[in-house]
Amino acid sequence: TKKIILDCDPGHDDAIALLLAYGNPEIDLLAVTTVAGNQTLEKVTYNALAIAEMAKIRNIPFAAGSARPLVRDIEVAPDIHGESGLDGPELPKPTLALDKRHAVSLIIDTIMSHPPKTITLVPTGALTNIALAARLEPRIVERVKEVVLMGGGYHVGNWSPVAEFNIKIDPEAAHIVFNEKWPLTMVGLDLTHQALATPEVVAKIADIGTQCSQFVVELLDFFGKMYKQAQGFDSPPVHDPCAVAYVIDSSVMTTQKVPVDIELSGALTLGMTVADFRHPAPEDCHTQVAMKLDHDKFWLLVINALKNIG
Ligand code: BDR
Ligand code: CA
Repeated sequence: TKKIILDCDPGHDDAIALLLAYGNPEIDLLAVTTVAGNQTLEKVTYNALAIAEMAKIRNIPFAAGSARPLVRDIEVAPDIHGESGLDGPELPKPTLALDKRHAVSLIIDTIMSHPPKTITLVPTGALTNIALAARLEPRIVERVKEVVLMGGGYHVGNWSPVAEFNIKIDPEAAHIVFNEKWPLTMVGLDLTHQALATPEVVAKIADIGTQCSQFVVELLDFFGKMYKQAQGFDSPPVHDPCAVAYVIDSSVMTTQKVPVDIELSGALTLGMTVADFRHPAPEDCHTQVAMKLDHDKFWLLVINALKNIG
């Protein structure tokens, strides 16, 4: 199995990422940590626990992390995720207690207590917690297997013409994470805009006929309406589970090795993930970007995970 830590800001697509990670038998979900992003830390943490309740997740530690970006003021995304951060379905009342540790401590403890190169970090929100963890315990950089994150894009943005939300709201954290030498896969908008929850996909999820699948249908319904309004999509792009799917089965997408760095000072380009495609990637290039998604394979993973959760 593949051991992962999911660092997220649920968030409709984060919720589906969590359900995919929990319901897929290949994944050993070691910890779930939260970070401010789609909504405030308090709200996204509540949402994470509510999803745990929905899926009857019991024995996995959940910890709250950073309440704001490293340098900048907090920015949230109610026009996509609503006031709660997870508008749409009625959320079950959480009963799972939070781990007492700060997310950054839980991340470090988990990585340092497992053998080297066995844990994959899967961030699907701003990179604040991951950057802090790398600064507080630099040995984690050598010790993790890889980082597979949802964020950025080499061609498009969504929070500015050229920058994606997770990177744009905490570009300094992203700069730290992209410049550490761990193997890093950027599952950006170029890829995730192919992960559309089309009416056919939503119908297949509805057919599963469980409480959890109904919950996902209601999430996608709200998410779809917001994406239509805010960005003109006919079907919503379901970003975050793409990163989890890559960890489960890397053949679900194509990737290319390319150096990527984060713009920190551009007036128009702050938070841009600048990928240098001019030359073949150098030998020591530690970053790669996701390109082409196998749509059917991806949604089958999600559907099977929901079936497994029951
Ligand atoms: C990313 O931003 C958030 O709103 C989503 O959850 C996803 O992680 C997409 O840009
Ligand atoms: Ca997210």
